[in-house]
Amino acid sequence: MSKVKVLLTRRWPAAVEATLMQRYEVTLNSDDHPFSADEIRTALQYYDAVCPTVCDALPADVLQVSNKRCKILGNFGVGYNHIDIATAKAEGIVVTNTPGVLTQSTADIAMTLLLMSARRGAEGDRMIRANQWTGWCPTHMLSTDVTGATLGLIGFGRIAQAMAHKAHFGFGMRILYLKPTPADPATVAQLQATRCDSIAELLENSDFVSLHCPGGAETKHLINAENLALMKPTAHLINTARGDVVDSQALITALHNRQSAGAGLDVYEGEPNIHPGFLTLDNVALLPHLGSATLNTRIAMGEKVLANLEAFFSGKEVIDRVA
Ligand code: DGY
Repeated sequence: MSKVKVLLTRRWPAAVEATLMQRYEVTLNSDDHPFSADEIRTALQYYDAVCPTVCDALPADVLQVSNKRCKILGNFGVGYNHIDIATAKAEGIVVTNTPGVLTQSTADIAMTLLLMSARRGAEGDRMIRANQWTGWCPTHMLSTDVTGATLGLIGFGRIAQAMAHKAHFGFGMRILYLKPTPADPATVAQLQATRCDSIAELLENSDFVSLHCPGGAETKHLINAENLALMKPTAHLINTARGDVVDSQALITALHNRQSAGAGLDVYEGEPNIHPGFLTLDNVALLPHLGSATLNTRIAMGEKVLANLEAFFSGKEVIDRVA
């Protein structure tokens, strides 16, 4: 019997590519370039399984390509707002993701950005590299305390809860959260977390606001000029969720006018293209979507995709079905 044909749209850590190649007829993207819409369409026609990532757009007009062979999209990542899930379902394509294995590494990056933004880490690094540091003095680069401050989390899933744990137990932070339904009482009690009734309540009372909601139409520009104006002028915004949750232009204006003290961003609207307005601001720390970028996490993500493909091609229910 011919082997199942699998395509990885981007390179994965070698160890997990090797395991995959033992089991399937795998095609790799040898120069690791981002696929065009036409390349993804062609992939859907030639492979039984296509394994995309966050940087591959799969809207309806791609998923509806004729003569499809693809039966499963094994997404390498937990977020799937780049895939039109309703169309995938309608086209009979199973979609899986990789929840759980990137929780700690992504929460670590959110905490890194919070610290960088509060303590002006990126700005200090730039000053030294530009040979502009003239020495210690009592008023140099004064910043904001993290320990004991209030952290407001928008979304309270795995990654938000992991960040809350680090912030509360590591930095003595008070935790506020916004979630449509109350969180597990044991988690809330452990973190001494308080659920806010509205986004306004959370924004008005937080020293740091960290975004952990999914991307997509429902959360697009949730953080807009109006909501930014509700934040304390001393507060910092952290985004490791999805770029389009924040209206970039509104955030740039708020940072420029010091209506927002600072921001730490790992994700961007239209990434990898960054709004040029961010690049000239000192009070924003910018990372290139590093949330899950540890070797162990990326191997674990690949193994999750593999486990889902194994289940699917042996006729079992997939583990992490999103469609
Ligand atoms: C995900 O898994 O959705 C992340 O954004 C990739 O780091």
